[in-house]
Formats: sequence, structure tokens, C-alpha cells
Amino acid sequence: MGPNGPELIDSLLLSGYPSGRPIPEVDENAVTNGRALMNEGLTMAVGPWGVSFASDITSDETGIGTWTEEQFSKALKQGWYKGIDGGRKLLPPMPWQNFREMKDGDVRAMYLNLKSTRPVRNIVPSPVSPRLQASTF
Ligand code: HEM
Repeated sequence: MGPNGPELIDSLLLSGYPSGRPIPEVDENAVTNGRALMNEGLTMAVGPWGVSFASDITSDETGIGTWTEEQFSKALKQGWYKGIDGGRKLLPPMPWQNFREMKDGDVRAMYLNLKSTRPVRNIVPSPVSPRLQASTF
């Protein structure tokens, strides 16, 4: 984040919350007072759902490298983590509800585009549930 807002870092593009980066302290009062928070890199968000971290969606195997198109569609349009039916639902601010009506051709175009990205190896931290949040920070 620079003085004029977000600045892209080409080497990290689409790779999510960088593993190994310390998780910033969260002001619990801000959330209790009806706010949602993001870190300066816009890859971590805090709200009533707890703490979520942007996923690696590059072509690396830690991203969507091994995914099928069906998995990608299930993640994007139905909000299933890793596109696995009956697993967990993707958390905010991933706006999967907005993608419900997306046409198969558009999903495919995004899938193929992401499959063609430079792989970035990055194991993103797991989300923190609101119950655990207080003791984590
Ligand atoms: C067309 C645009 C987008 C695409 C193709 C996309 C794709 C994806 C995919 C495939 C996942 C699931 C990764 C996995 O299960 O391992 C994901 C997760 C996520 N996305 Fe997006 N996304 C988009 C837009 C956004 C936007 C606009 C935001 C935030 C403002 C966002 C934030 C997140 C977060 C926080 C997660 C992790 C959620 C969790 O762990 O539950 N995404 N995204």
C-alpha cells in the first residue's frame, strides 16, 4: 500500500496472503463496533466471521495448479473451499455469491487464464474462527 493506494507487486500477484508474514494485531473493539478490517496488503480481512486470508490462485500446486475446471467452478460459483462439495464455505470478502450466475464460458476463460499464470508457491494461513480470535491475538 503506497500513498496513492494499492501498488501491484508482480512477483506476488494472485498469490494471496504471504506465508511467513507476521499476522498483524487486531483491534477487537473495531469489529465489535461494527467495522470490518483489512491489512495494508488487502490480503487479510477481519469481521464477524473471524479472520480470513486471500488464497493463492496462481498456477502453482499451492494455488489452483492441480484443480479441475469443475473444482474451479464450484469454488467460484458455489463457494466451496478448493471446489470440494460439502467441505467448508469460502469466507468473506471472497464475493462468490456475486458469481453464481456466471456463464460457463466466462468461468472457463478465468480458469484458463489463472492456469497460465506464473506459479507462486505460497501456503496461506488457515482462517481463524471468531471464537479463537480473542486468544490468538
Ligand atoms: C474474479 C475475481 C476472483 C476470482 C477468480 C477469485 C477466485 C478465488 C478462488 C478460486 C478461491 C478459493 C481458493 C481455495 O479454495 O483454495 C478464492 C478465495 C478467496 N478469495 Fe477470491 N476470487 C476473486 C475475487 C475476490 C475478491 C474481489 C476478493 C476480496 C475483495 C477475494 C478474496 C478472497 C478470499 C479472502 C479468499 C479466501 C476465503 C477463505 O479462505 O474462505 N476474491 N478466490
